[in-house]
Amino acid sequence: MEPIKVGLLGLGVVGGGTWNVLRRNAEEIGRRAGRQIEIVRVAVRDVAKARAKVGADVQITDDAFEVVRDPQIDIVVELIGGVTLARELLLEAIAHGKHVVTANKALLAMHGTEIFEAASRKGVMITFEAAVAGGIPIIKAIREGLTANRIEWVAGIINGTTNYILSEMRTNKLTFAQALQQAQQLGYAEADPTADIQGIDAAQKLTLLASMAFGIPVQFSKAYIEGITQLSDEDLETAQYLGYRIKLLGITRRRAQGIELRVHPTLVPANSILANVEDAMNAVLVNGDAVGQTLYYGKGAGEEPTASAVVADLIDVTRLHTADPGQRVPHLAFQPDAMADIPILPIDEVVSSYYLRMMVDDVPGVLADIARELSNAGISIGSMIQQPSEQGYARLVFLTHSAQEQAVNRAIASIESMPFMRSQVTRLRVEEF
Ligand code: NDP
Ligand code: HSE
Repeated sequence: MEPIKVGLLGLGVVGGGTWNVLRRNAEEIGRRAGRQIEIVRVAVRDVAKARAKVGADVQITDDAFEVVRDPQIDIVVELIGGVTLARELLLEAIAHGKHVVTANKALLAMHGTEIFEAASRKGVMITFEAAVAGGIPIIKAIREGLTANRIEWVAGIINGTTNYILSEMRTNKLTFAQALQQAQQLGYAEADPTADIQGIDAAQKLTLLASMAFGIPVQFSKAYIEGITQLSDEDLETAQYLGYRIKLLGITRRRAQGIELRVHPTLVPANSILANVEDAMNAVLVNGDAVGQTLYYGKGAGEEPTASAVVADLIDVTRLHTADPGQRVPHLAFQPDAMADIPILPIDEVVSSYYLRMMVDDVPGVLADIARELSNAGISIGSMIQQPSEQGYARLVFLTHSAQEQAVNRAIASIESMPFMRSQVTRLRVEEF
């Protein structure tokens, strides 16, 4: 059979890895796919640099639209990144009847509904395994392996850059800036790393996971997002002292009133699975009513781990290329006409345990007053430590039992207005899965 023909947009970290894996494993990939998968055109900005990588046999252009409109191409692989141009290219590729493989979570989180609808109308496939948790086949697992289940929650470390930074700060005592620079050099970070450190990249991925887990539309704008830029060494050390580690987690959970969709630094017990996911590794826990918890672990970023997911998608598309569109696995795991309009809960309605750290005057009655404010808000204290500090101050840290966020915020506002307070209250969420 003729090879299936691929147009590759972007030959950077992931595009370069995809080129390498397809070449190196061509024979095995062909045996799995049923035919060879051949990159016939590449689009980049720097044609000379790309020529040095791919040699003379492949057509190279700096106009990506030439590739998505090329009649010989069956599948477009979009590895340019960004939103505006990538959106135009994907819609143009779909309009020209191409299947699309992409690693672009930013694009799908913001324009997924439009893109999936366009693809369904045209009867083409959009696959995006590489967009969430790099090389881990988490989309395959949720979209196909766990379809018997009513999924209750998904939680995980889904940004390699921030996990690398937190690991390096804790284990090798690197500064935030040093660790970020290393993550960039290793190819983990986004072109603009603020998307990583502010939690945006993780929220884009979580939005896609939530959509497939619960059969809801892609709603990135409703995700609650807190990154790791405000985390202090003091909190990293105090968490460790208390037997926890701080990880940037994405958590989406089904509750009676709606769906929680949140990304934030989270204390997890030091002996738990997620606490021990280090470096740029990712891990995702999925809880289904039939199967219970399942865990997916692996490299969440980088050249060939991400290429592994891109090429797996290419093989899937090649296998299903001639299948009736109605018989293919739906893009978001649920049939498009069966998506549910379950509300995304505002962060105020989220339920979690909390870590509250504050500096107070070390005088009689302080503890009693704080405990009373927590009690008035219906918040139960799990444990508490007091550490003497300089100038007659004391550092207090409370760990609460489960409480609703708005009650915790109410209590914090009352506590912060008290005369003995010498700092604001630092509030972090605590989760045990
Ligand atoms: P890079 O910046 O390494 O590569 C981008 C590539 O796109 C380069 O080859 C660049 O060309 C090309 N490009 C950029 N603009 C244009 C344009 N206007 N026309 C043609 N080509 C263009 O990015 P990554 O490989 O790191 O990321 C690609 C995508 O994969 C992003 O969506 C990212 O979020 C996603 N992703 C990345 C992961 C990672 O570990 N890096 C992991 C998972 C997903 P040139 O080389 O000439 O500049
Ligand atoms: N910048 C992303 C990360 C790449 O660090 O996880 C993988 O999506």
